[in-house]
Parts: sequence; C-alpha cells; structure tokens
Amino acid sequence: MDIRQTTAADLETVKELHREAFGPEEGPVIVSLLDELLPDPTAEPILSLLAEDGPRVLGHVLFTKVVIQGAEPVAARILAPLAVLPSAQKQGVGQQLVEAGLSQLRDAGVELVFVLGDPAYYTRFGFEPAGVHGLTAPHSLPAEYAEAWMVQELCSGVLGRVSGEVEASQVLNRREYWIG
Ligand SMILES: CC(C)(COP(=O)(O)OP(=O)(O)OC[C@H]1O[C@@H](n2cnc3c(N)ncnc32)[C@H](O)[C@@H]1OP(=O)(O)O)[C@@H](O)C(=O)NCCC(=O)NCCS
Repeated sequence: MDIRQTTAADLETVKELHREAFGPEEGPVIVSLLDELLPDPTAEPILSLLAEDGPRVLGHVLFTKVVIQGAEPVAARILAPLAVLPSAQKQGVGQQLVEAGLSQLRDAGVELVFVLGDPAYYTRFGFEPAGVHGLTAPHSLPAEYAEAWMVQELCSGVLGRVSGEVEASQVLNRREYWIG
C-alpha cells in the first residue's frame, strides 16, 4: 500500500470513497464538505493524503488549518475527514494514513493537531481531550462529545502554554459541520 498526496484528478474517487465509507445519511454531508473545503483559501495549508493499493484507492485523510483565538501564533491543523473503504477497514489503513499525516505535519513544523472523533480510535495516535487544556471547539458541543474534542502536540511544551477558542477555516467552522 502506498500513501501519497492527492491531486485534482483524484477528487471524484476521493468523494466516492467518503460516500461509501460514511453511508447514505452522512456521506452526502461529507462530500459537500469536501467540495467546499478543498478550495477554501482559509483552509490552507492543506494536507490531503490517500492510501492506494495499485489502482485501488483505499482511504483518504484531510488536514486543514486552524487558528487559536487570542493566543500567540501557533501552527495548528485539524484532521477532518478520514475515511477508509468499507472493504478495506480494520486492516490498518486508517492508522497508516493518520500516522503518515502526523509525521508530515511534524516535519513541516506544525505544533498542534485537533480532531473531533471517537476517543477510542484517536487516543491510540496520541490525541487527548483538548478542553482540559483550555482549547475549546469552534461551537459548544453537547456534553457527550466533550471527550471527542481532542488535540495532540507535535512538539513538546505547546499544551499548557497556548489556550483559547479554536477557529477552523471558513467552511469547516460552519455550525452544521459541528453539531449535525
Ligand atoms: C474510522 C475509520 C476511518 C477507521 O479506518 P480503518 O482503516 O478501519 O482503521 P484501522 O484499521 O487503522 O483501525 C481499526 C481497527 O482495526 C484494527 N486493525 C488494524 N489493523 C488490523 C489488522 N491488520 N488486522 C485486524 N485488525 C486490525 C485496529 O486495531 C482497530 O481496532 P478497533 O476495532 O479496536 O478500533 C473507518 O472505519 C471509516 O472510514 N469509517 C467510516 C467513516 C468514519 O467514521 N470516519 C471517521 C470520522 S472521525
């Protein structure tokens, strides 16, 4: 399996992958998010990686820029969305995509990465609850999602030093993408 950056030619395949992975209810929401988020200039720098096995695209992950309001400037990104083709799930594709993304971001000097997702999945990559560090989500989340709002520092000493409200790109910051 190879992991590489996506190109414009991959867009339809990537959207189809998310449609299949997220299913008929959530899939169309994620596809329209991708349609709007990829050209959003406030989302840059973007890191868009896909996993492929020969001609078969197995998974995709996207990282986009976030800023932390009222804090000293810090290089930060958010992971969203991530999807693996149903037939390729539970074989480590998601794990390899996330780890490759975090490694590339670390090399690029990114200090913090956020995600809103399943703690059971993302804690294995080093994500931890963000709220306890004073890093709040763009919109207030229902109490049951408190643990799902997570952060990871890619260089030590940032957590605890930086706090404030996280603002995603113009598109990803929209309320509909945070509270279904
Ligand atoms: C969430 C998602 C991206 C995970 O992708 P994945 O490639 O299946 O993830 P991984 O294989 O890395 O890990 C999944 C599980 O497979 C297990 N696994 C990993 N490699 C394995 C292998 N070689 N053999 C057996 N199991 C393996 C992992 O331990 C993990 O176990 P868990 O059941 O305790 O969670 C995928 O399920 C998906 O696309 N879901 C729909 C969209 C979605 O919900 N996206 C996330 C939004 S935040």
